[in-house]
Amino acid sequence: MPRAHPSSSPEITILRALLENESGYVSGAALAKTLSMSRVAVWQHMEKLREQGFTFEAVRARGYRLATRPTGLNPATIEAFLPPRKPALGFVCLETVDSTNDEAARQLAAGHTVPFVVIAGQQTRGRGRFGRTWHSEANGNLYLSFAFRPQLPPGRMQTFTLWMGVNLCDLVASFTQTTPGLKWPNDILFDERKAGGMLTEARIDADQIRDLVFGLGLNTNSPAGSLPHDIARRAISLAEHTNSPLDLNKFAAAVIGRVLDAYEQFVSGEYKKTFADLWNRFDFLKGKPVSLLHGNHPVHGIALGIDEEGSLIVRTDRGKTERFRAGEVTLSKKPV
Ligand code: BTN
Repeated sequence: MPRAHPSSSPEITILRALLENESGYVSGAALAKTLSMSRVAVWQHMEKLREQGFTFEAVRARGYRLATRPTGLNPATIEAFLPPRKPALGFVCLETVDSTNDEAARQLAAGHTVPFVVIAGQQTRGRGRFGRTWHSEANGNLYLSFAFRPQLPPGRMQTFTLWMGVNLCDLVASFTQTTPGLKWPNDILFDERKAGGMLTEARIDADQIRDLVFGLGLNTNSPAGSLPHDIARRAISLAEHTNSPLDLNKFAAAVIGRVLDAYEQFVSGEYKKTFADLWNRFDFLKGKPVSLLHGNHPVHGIALGIDEEGSLIVRTDRGKTERFRAGEVTLSKKPV
């Protein structure tokens, strides 16, 4: 997989123009004018795209049309689908990496400007919560991490992940015409099977979040049966759920755009206007009997939603209403 081009590269500009008009033609003269270069130079840049697997149709007096584009993860296509942003987004696309979260943390430590996203075709040490492994084969699923320097109090991290979760559910719902659920605090589900997980990690200095890495694994196009047997029962991909593969690069760009917008709304406080509505729409646990492992103590009860800090509210089987900042929840078979 080629590395990403800088956002201003002529290839991205050409691709963006062709994608905006995917069923029509874009004149070579118009491209040359936009890029302030000769038509021969435009053709040479298109040659570079051809080397990546793009094919074009050229019709005299009409121009170029994008005939086919790579279906696997392709950084140029993702960038071209992303509208240009301010501040510009850094984009690191790797064929393989240990963990996109670890790569983002390394790049932050090396002084990479924020925001940036690390996306990989596969991970050799993908991590989930509680030190679990996140299976990350090169199977059409998405593994990506976003890096920010938000300067917020650490207490806001819990709500951050929930806010990202509901935004991702909303995006998945509109992109695939489905109804996912968000299981507190970080699982995106269809029925009871996991389609995505989030892992937010931070470096905290003097009571401020300095570096924030938001990692996201989304089972997108993995075919049924491609995950290890023990996980397959509990996991599902969007393609499996909808019975058709997604346009991976278009979807990746939509995910990236949504996370960046959601981040800005979170930092500005604007998220408060819509958070409760989105939460209520996607809350998978609400009203259900749950078991929660809190330290070593199992708690049973009915999930009642979250409070303003993002803690889970449970009416326990001892008749008390309790709030939990952390823990692992399962649906309970035990009547409460
Ligand atoms: C969980 O459900 O426990 C969280 C899973 C998070 C997985 C993603 S994949 C991209 C990023 N890199 C990692 O190593 N983990 C996160």
